Amino acid sequence: MAVVPVKAEKVEDNPGKVYLFSYTNHEDRSRNGLYFAWSTDKVNWHAIGPEHPFLQSDYGAWGSQKKMVSPFLFKDQENLWHCIWSVNTTDFTFAHAASEDLVHWKRQSYPPLNTEKNILAPQIKFTGSLYEVQWKSKVGAEVTYHKVTTRDFKEYSKIEKASYDTTLKSEVVVDGMSFEGVITEVEWSEVQTLIDAKDLSVYKSKRYSETTQQDTKRFDGLANVTAQITIHKDRKKAISPLLMGIFFEDINYAADGGLYAELIQNRDFEYTPADTKFRDYTWNSLKAWKSEGIEVTIDSISPIHENNLHYVTIKRNDELGKLVNEGFDGIPLKANEKYYFSLFAKTFEGATKLKISLVDTLGKVYTTKTINATSKNWKKYQTTLKVKESARYTQLVIEPMSNQKVGLDFISLFPAETFKQHKNGLRADLAQTIADINPKFVRFPGGCVAHGDGLDNIYRWKNTIGPLETRKPQRNIWNYHQSMGLGYFEYFQFCEDINATPLPVIAAGVPCQNSSTGGAGQQCGIPEEEMVAYIQDILDLIEWANGDKNSEWGSKRAAAGHPEPFNLKYLGIGNEDLITDVFEERFTQIFNAIQKAYPEIVVIGTVGPFYEGTDYDEGWELANKLEVPMVDEHYYVPLGWLIHNQDYYDAYDRNNAKVYLGEYASHLPGRPSNMETALSEALYLTAVERNGDVVKMTSYAPLLAKENHTQWKPDLIYFNNLEVKPTTDYYVQKLYGQNAGTIYYDTDVSIPFANEDITNRVGVSVVQDEESGDMIIKLVSMLPVPVTANLDHTQFVMNSNATLTVFAGAPDAIDVIPTTEDFKIGKEFEYTLPPYSFTVIRVQTQQ
Ligand code: AHR
Repeated sequence: MAVVPVKAEKVEDNPGKVYLFSYTNHEDRSRNGLYFAWSTDKVNWHAIGPEHPFLQSDYGAWGSQKKMVSPFLFKDQENLWHCIWSVNTTDFTFAHAASEDLVHWKRQSYPPLNTEKNILAPQIKFTGSLYEVQWKSKVGAEVTYHKVTTRDFKEYSKIEKASYDTTLKSEVVVDGMSFEGVITEVEWSEVQTLIDAKDLSVYKSKRYSETTQQDTKRFDGLANVTAQITIHKDRKKAISPLLMGIFFEDINYAADGGLYAELIQNRDFEYTPADTKFRDYTWNSLKAWKSEGIEVTIDSISPIHENNLHYVTIKRNDELGKLVNEGFDGIPLKANEKYYFSLFAKTFEGATKLKISLVDTLGKVYTTKTINATSKNWKKYQTTLKVKESARYTQLVIEPMSNQKVGLDFISLFPAETFKQHKNGLRADLAQTIADINPKFVRFPGGCVAHGDGLDNIYRWKNTIGPLETRKPQRNIWNYHQSMGLGYFEYFQFCEDINATPLPVIAAGVPCQNSSTGGAGQQCGIPEEEMVAYIQDILDLIEWANGDKNSEWGSKRAAAGHPEPFNLKYLGIGNEDLITDVFEERFTQIFNAIQKAYPEIVVIGTVGPFYEGTDYDEGWELANKLEVPMVDEHYYVPLGWLIHNQDYYDAYDRNNAKVYLGEYASHLPGRPSNMETALSEALYLTAVERNGDVVKMTSYAPLLAKENHTQWKPDLIYFNNLEVKPTTDYYVQKLYGQNAGTIYYDTDVSIPFANEDITNRVGVSVVQDEESGDMIIKLVSMLPVPVTANLDHTQFVMNSNATLTVFAGAPDAIDVIPTTEDFKIGKEFEYTLPPYSFTVIRVQTQQ
């Protein structure tokens, strides 16, 4: 990578041996870390940073729980450093990590110790053959001391009572503040390594935080930039035909209230405050429902199905009695459209008629029909509602026509005009906007939704297929509700509809490492004895997708209306998980089982949430060890990272696993989507296309966000009930998706400036789509001045008729859309890239 560290601290003469003090700051500060200071005399200490965290705790739920309390640093007999620390003041474990150089740390572990006392200020002592971990426990006012022994910091002895050596830590004053920590004598070179690492990190974060706001100063005086671009016919390589895809996760109301076309919210009365982590008690079985003039109760005796325990009973008190559903921010209606209404009902006191209407807030009725509920047992009733006029906001009104008590459940309303007219289908305008990207694959159901918040929240595909009323809804990790109406069948069907390869992602037997429920908030892992069944579920998924219609699971697919196989080829296992022993054991079992039963399936492993660091290193190491064919990389990065890391994949070993860049986006302060973020992604994608032999798939994340229900920004497509609002970043995905190629031609780009600030802001990629034969030239400029490019394609015989698509605008512009026009090209031709622009030239070849 082209980054040069700037030395912030210099020691001219090597002082030989020095003292290193390891410590942390106030115990309750979250995301603090292991800090260092050095000294030659144990009196004057120089902080490296100050407070630059060389190691941070991964234990606990995201946010304030990830604490490093009382770290203790120790060098073992093999010169390997070990750091142990308390994870908090309550849990019955401590944390351990090891490092060879104090800069790169290996995976963390949190030994499950058989104690019911907290573990405070753990420290290590070498006893001649074993390492002894001693700690204090404090329960009420009582303080007790304990120890375990270990040879390898993996296996530990039973807990014994112990004495606590108070001489192992020292009190040191750094920058005027007193800290408790460990003093170790080290070579100066070790301290220099730490200083260099800190300097590099400071340098990188400054460089990566570059935005166009500094461009006036950065490019002061820059006027004419020219670029000579030569396209080489003989320097070509095959690149992945699946490069551009989409990442779908039910975040920001992407599914219920979003892509899933159901218009009734909480149709099954299964919302619960637990969905919101008990932050909202109005989020219950009656959320989105209200009533007037009727008695309403929520019941669970003899439900429709055990997976849908709750239903409503209503009994009219007066003639105006009604039960009302407000939909997801209202129910929008389109003129001259049909809507399919259905509900399940059971009568308690004899048949009753139910008037069903769609009514706006002024009481205007847009359509109405009557259903006669006659059965004592649950029975589905349905009718079609025709609407003549459009309405932005209506509500569903159910009016009992008599005073008999009736039970209702699964009250549903769908537009007939779903995407491809499927029943239980998708919202047509949103689905079409996604389809317009021309994605070659669809990843689902997440993201974090896939691995869930705690063991009980892991997404189980089997809960999402079959008749809707038998599916098992569950809490969404983003603190709302998943009806599972958009389930595995619907995801696969959508893939087929848009000619995209399905890419389901299944948890690797571990929930999200940032889980707030279960296992003391830690990654935990499905218990060993349950792993066999868990793995069988994954194998069953492959049979469900690809098996013969007479096979056990293939028959369920056929019963749902799809006798032909879905042709599943890729399966993601894990989602940016912490790479721990718990993870490795489970991932390995799953991977081996799939390889054995279905060697044709390409398993995609996971290498953490960042482009570097422990999980990235350990994830890649594991993938190489197991020979996993592909890994899923994630990085949400500042704009400057994308500009200055276009060589990120150039040096990737082509013999290792291939890459699926499963989640990425350019993040600016305030997290907008604008021309600046869009162009930085367009620029980086030129480099990704260049590496399309090793990067096989990419997907921007997240995809969808409903206005007023957005947990994460930026997203590719915003929407409300009536409008779809693609972002600038969407148009970049669309231009790449619609102008993908299968052959990459190398180019020489010569810009007469020896200045990376300029050269890194111009990107070129030339691909050929073998199906159409078209050559596609992509040119990106993030410079504030025009770039006059001379394109030499004399090695090709190209048609002179081309199309020119230009996407250009001020960096903070959000409403720009690309424009396309016909364009004539000569053998060599000049084209001026507008300031801040992305251009696609598409031209037929004559060969
Ligand atoms: O894309 C949003 C979230 O970012 C995903 O759920 C998760 O995988 C990542 O941290």
